[in-house]
Amino acid sequence: MLAKPLIKQIKLARPDDWHLHLRQGKAMRSVVGMTARQMGRAIIMPNLSPPVKTVKQALDYRKEVVSALPKSSNFNPLMTLYLTDNTTKQDIINASNEEHVYAVKLYPAGATTNSESGVTSLPNVYPALEQMQKESIPLLVHGEVTHDDIDIFDREAVFIETILEPLTNKFPGLRVVLEHITTKDSVDFVTQSRDTIGATITAHHLLANRNHMLVGGIKPHYYCLPVLKRKVPHQDALIAAATSGNPKFFLGTDSAPHYQNEKESACGCAGVFSAHAAIELYADAFEKANKLDMLEGFASNYGADFYGLKRNTEIITLEKRPWMVPKSYSFSDSKVIPFLAEEQLSWRLML
Ligand code: NCD
Ligand code: ZN
Repeated sequence: MLAKPLIKQIKLARPDDWHLHLRQGKAMRSVVGMTARQMGRAIIMPNLSPPVKTVKQALDYRKEVVSALPKSSNFNPLMTLYLTDNTTKQDIINASNEEHVYAVKLYPAGATTNSESGVTSLPNVYPALEQMQKESIPLLVHGEVTHDDIDIFDREAVFIETILEPLTNKFPGLRVVLEHITTKDSVDFVTQSRDTIGATITAHHLLANRNHMLVGGIKPHYYCLPVLKRKVPHQDALIAAATSGNPKFFLGTDSAPHYQNEKESACGCAGVFSAHAAIELYADAFEKANKLDMLEGFASNYGADFYGLKRNTEIITLEKRPWMVPKSYSFSDSKVIPFLAEEQLSWRLML
């Protein structure tokens, strides 16, 4: 019997990143090119300090990002607003009239990096949500409760039960993306919900589980929020969802660069940096699951469909050419340690 030929090359439509942290200033300028060389578009998170709360702030931020791109780049940053207790209906109307603003992000106050201005109680934002439902603007959700008495590994599941399910019932026409899902609970919720509810999945949640972060010593560069969960049933459920061909699940790296010293600290901050090799990391995850044929839908098609945008037509090529992820990248005046630093990846994006 003939051996199955080994796949050496994959071609797919240029992917998009539906959840990305770019930061600002010199820090942003150090990393934006890495995403721009891989992705056609990216949804840019608004959790700056101070947060991006108005259309004007979003457009100023977009200008800053665009001016950092190489002249030849076609990368399109899609901007978001940060939902606060004080977001008005008018803020939402302004967003819906602006071609560069695509979504509004809900951070429960205190849930993660720069979430101090987040929502303290959901009824405070009902008027804004009502308007978003009307204008068909997606609500992007950081799905974790923040109460001290809820275990950090349960925060996503408790959020779904106590906040998200009632919210989606109250606003049956609201488009919702549950961001960076980490649990089987989220996979099940999204799978069973209506078509206007989707989810992004990161490469690091597909490739790692809490053992990677905690066995043999605490590895701060694996620490992100929502925190990595168990392999069974959670990581396995994420892999199954991402590779299933269900268009509710699509690519969002949540690449979140932090200074090396702020992660390697007695109180290290949350965030995994994966923009250096985003599509290669996903290709590795899909190959491990024997589902490389499902990569293009997840990475290049379903997110655009969910947002009602045209799919990218340009083609990229990944080749099976093992390479070593560098130990660090320069990041403003310091360094950022990339996901899987000094480890070997199988796929390489060819330009
Ligand atoms: C993100 C960051 O650093 O901005 N951190 C993270 O762990 N994912 C914020 C977020 O998306 O939670
Ligand atoms: Zn994020």
